[in-house]
Amino acid sequence: MSNSQSSGWGSRVGLVLAMAGNAVGLGNFLRFPAQAIENGGGAFIIPYLVCFLLMGLPLLFVEWSMGRYGGKFKQHSTPFIFDSMGQAPYWKYFGVFGLFTNIAVAAFYCYLESWALSWAYYSVAGTFTDMSMAEVQLFFENYIGLGTSQPVIFWIICLFLNTWILSRGLSGGVEKVAKVGMPLLLLFGLILGITGITMQASPEAGGPIHDGVVGLNYLWNPDFSSIWSFDVWVAAAGQIFFTLSLGMGSIHCYASYLNAKDDVALNAMSAGWMNEFVEVVLGSMIIIPISIGYLGIDAVSDMVSGGSGLGIGFAVLPKLFADWGGFGVMAGLMWFGLLFFAGITSSLAMGTPVMAFLKDNFGWKESTGAWFFGLIILLLGIPCVLSQDAFNEFDYWAGTISLVVFALIEIILFAWVFGLADNYSEWRKSDDVLPFKAMKRLPAWKEITRGADINVPIIFKFIIKYVSPIFLLIVFIGAIPGIIDNATKETSFYGWLARFLLLTLFILISFLVYIAAKRNKNSKLY
Ligand code: ALA
Repeated sequence: MSNSQSSGWGSRVGLVLAMAGNAVGLGNFLRFPAQAIENGGGAFIIPYLVCFLLMGLPLLFVEWSMGRYGGKFKQHSTPFIFDSMGQAPYWKYFGVFGLFTNIAVAAFYCYLESWALSWAYYSVAGTFTDMSMAEVQLFFENYIGLGTSQPVIFWIICLFLNTWILSRGLSGGVEKVAKVGMPLLLLFGLILGITGITMQASPEAGGPIHDGVVGLNYLWNPDFSSIWSFDVWVAAAGQIFFTLSLGMGSIHCYASYLNAKDDVALNAMSAGWMNEFVEVVLGSMIIIPISIGYLGIDAVSDMVSGGSGLGIGFAVLPKLFADWGGFGVMAGLMWFGLLFFAGITSSLAMGTPVMAFLKDNFGWKESTGAWFFGLIILLLGIPCVLSQDAFNEFDYWAGTISLVVFALIEIILFAWVFGLADNYSEWRKSDDVLPFKAMKRLPAWKEITRGADINVPIIFKFIIKYVSPIFLLIVFIGAIPGIIDNATKETSFYGWLARFLLLTLFILISFLVYIAAKRNKNSKLY
């Protein structure tokens, strides 16, 4: 299963669970339902599914294949995976995105993850039991406003846990957590989801004003007017990227530990569909049905404005669970435990490319790389913990824009540049003029299908070469006005600090790639 002696996956199940864990994250349970409601409920799902089929699945094939290909050259991070595929020295600098995004997203993501850890603790400690709804909300606001030292303590515990697990390597740390965390997450999600949608109306007893199905109906009630809105499509594309962890570089890294003949097609499909099941089925069955059941539609649609779902997840659900009697404490533990497992299996995936880069190119031990990653996340996380403005800058530039830019670059590299020069003259000489037929010759398709345990539908050739890049280009062009707005928008000191840190981070990683390239030239690897 593994192509390297000291690192690698112990088993296929472990790999698929770790990849699914990478994808399944806070985005599935908090961001997805809130985005769906904000973008028209039933109308959102159509762009969302189209984006999944035309960008999500193709990019999964691409990222898994690129990763496995780079692994052949003992490279496990995108700068030098790109270098092994491109025809020019500059490609490795585009690969910088695959380290930058992971570090920058982890800087704010681990903080959110630590909220789940602390809320799991508060649920067990009974902190919310006797509070009113307003008191729970105040508690939440006080927490995120750093009214006490507890957020910082939980954040540091959470960072320590991440770093310690990472320091134990892929099979000894990441895979073990995925094997325990993912089944528990599914179990907790199913229990909460089924309880959520089978809640019965009993307002006299303080129970819900509607049953849970009302919330589910609201979420998926078709409103086709918004399907023609470009913003809905951009939101759907953004959600697909974020939820599948595409355009980050972490999938490449996990896949790079496969052997050259291991399957990528079925593995990619399995992890991708598992994520979609968790997102569309379980993600729909918890926060929206429960909160609409108790609070009604108007209150809930106000609460999801901004599309994050954090308010409902942390400030509303703990109180609603209390109505479930003795089961309420268990429900709180399951909900926040589920969020924590979802979060940590994703943040671990953000650490591995950084460790791999330092190991492959500078000979660092994995454990040293892991602690270094923890330190960087601690330093970059400080502004995100202290200020919502900094948090938003990190989220926007790294968690949204960078994903799209990186995905556009990688699909061009994979489908249009990789191996093309080798085959180009042969292709020109042939009478195989139809571009669709000519694609058969491209090594990119061979990379996807080599060792595949399924027949990858042939239409994906066409989609990967033409449809996905055009789709991505349109999304990117559509995002340009927002990019200009965000880049020129006034912000606070922390907002500016965040912009400065992000830019510095990108430049520093590029510099490290430059040094690594010089070292590699002298090494036997190249
Ligand atoms: N894919 C991860 C999530 O959905 C980042 O949260």
